[in-house]
Amino acid sequence: MSERTAKRGKKAHAEDLPATEVAGKAETPAPEPAPEISVEAKKKILFVASEAAPFIATGGLAEVIGSLSKALARSDRYDVRVMVPLYQDIKKEYRKDFKFLGNTYVTLSWRNQYCGVFEYQQDNVTYYFLDNEYYFKRPGCYGYYDDGERFAFFCRGVMEMMNFIGFYPDVMHCHDWQAALAALYLKTIYCFRPEYQFIRACFTIHNIEYQGKYSLDILEDLFGISYHFQNLVEYDRCINLMKGAIECCECFSTVSPTYAQEIKDPYYSHGLDPIIRRNEFKLRGILNGIDPDYYDPATDISLFKNYSADDMAGKAVCKEELQRMLNLPVKPDTPIIAMITRLVTHKGLDLVKEVIEQALRQDMQFVLLGTGDSSYEIYFSDLARRYPGKVVSIISFNSDLSRKIYSGADLFLMPSKSEPCGLSQMISSRYGAVAIVRETGGLRDSITPFGAGGNGFTFRDYNAYDMLYVINEAIGVYHSPEIWKNLVHRAMTTDFSWASSAHYYEEMYLGLLK
Ligand code: GLC
Repeated sequence: MSERTAKRGKKAHAEDLPATEVAGKAETPAPEPAPEISVEAKKKILFVASEAAPFIATGGLAEVIGSLSKALARSDRYDVRVMVPLYQDIKKEYRKDFKFLGNTYVTLSWRNQYCGVFEYQQDNVTYYFLDNEYYFKRPGCYGYYDDGERFAFFCRGVMEMMNFIGFYPDVMHCHDWQAALAALYLKTIYCFRPEYQFIRACFTIHNIEYQGKYSLDILEDLFGISYHFQNLVEYDRCINLMKGAIECCECFSTVSPTYAQEIKDPYYSHGLDPIIRRNEFKLRGILNGIDPDYYDPATDISLFKNYSADDMAGKAVCKEELQRMLNLPVKPDTPIIAMITRLVTHKGLDLVKEVIEQALRQDMQFVLLGTGDSSYEIYFSDLARRYPGKVVSIISFNSDLSRKIYSGADLFLMPSKSEPCGLSQMISSRYGAVAIVRETGGLRDSITPFGAGGNGFTFRDYNAYDMLYVINEAIGVYHSPEIWKNLVHRAMTTDFSWASSAHYYEEMYLGLLK
């Protein structure tokens, strides 16, 4: 790796970006002062999303919906509500307390479908769960042949529910392609009705890879959108719902300042870069946060022992117990490098495959937790068989175990090829597992290089040997106890909460309402 790569600090990145895009925690650990907000009346914000933690979660989207809505609702300036489908898998512990508000019927082209609504309040946020057993009484959230129809029903249901419950938001904030149609319905159908005419729409891209692409033939018949509006949604001779939402929202955002830059480039955009560039004037990049109460090593009941940045004794116990549990030799001075990830290519697993055996020549232990593509599952299972006592691969996902790994590990590897934001590097830092990341998307905006006084280790180019170089650098630093202690402290005390980023969302909403 070049000197330049090693020394490239956060400041240098920030200077690369236009001032308006450098939002969120780009300047860790001291965030830029948030803009002044002065609002007279409570503003009504409605989140529309296909998942929301803690009720139903398959990934980072759910966590953001749960934690951002809670952060906004903490201020009494906002009435924050969230609409999600009532999936079969919504956790029973919550479901039993849902209150049935009633039902209406939702028109979807020639279809007329039942839509029930349940309400639940938590942390000052009102959640609505839209019910239709034909569409949502199935295991999991996605992956069905009729996902387009399922989420069209959901989005149309959202629009109807506003009328049913008498809540017309000032801002409807739609997340990812599954919610894109709500923005399209607003702008093509509902905005002609008086109650809906002042609703502003914004759209957040959590991952540009999934755009909601369908054949143009079903625009009217399935989505119920007139061919007069075909130009709004058409892209590459297909319906592209993400493109449609970008075109018709008053503003759109993505989940880190760097990713907001990257998606203008074909390397990252999955074909949408011309649309992103054309609509750049209304694009923002706002770094995600995590809920610091939910991820707190001082109170986390999954941990073998609790600890905090100021009292680290428990972390050594967590490491020892993790080694014991995973049948690794109990060695307090051997660094554990962990990965908790979906096993898919864009997570940088080909880099890991290329150099992990070289890294393993030194005294270290490697722990991987995740599921995904079978080729990676087979590769990592085999690696563990070939390196007993050094490598453990757990091909599953389990939140309790993930927390035990975050707390027991010393280093956390996340070499993604692309990463809109990424939450794991923030969680690992909070648990004192210092992150090693590639400088892309939110990884670049949240982890700053050790050499520049930062909170982790980074490499710039998507190159296995650059990654190996920083892994070795990290292990070197690990063996200098005083320096390591300070680094772990910096990682654990970096502010990854929503405190600063939520203000940038507020600023975005208020900008729309002017
Ligand atoms: C998606 C992205 C991830 C991001 C999350 C929440 O899952 O892949 O990088 O952190 O959404 O915005």
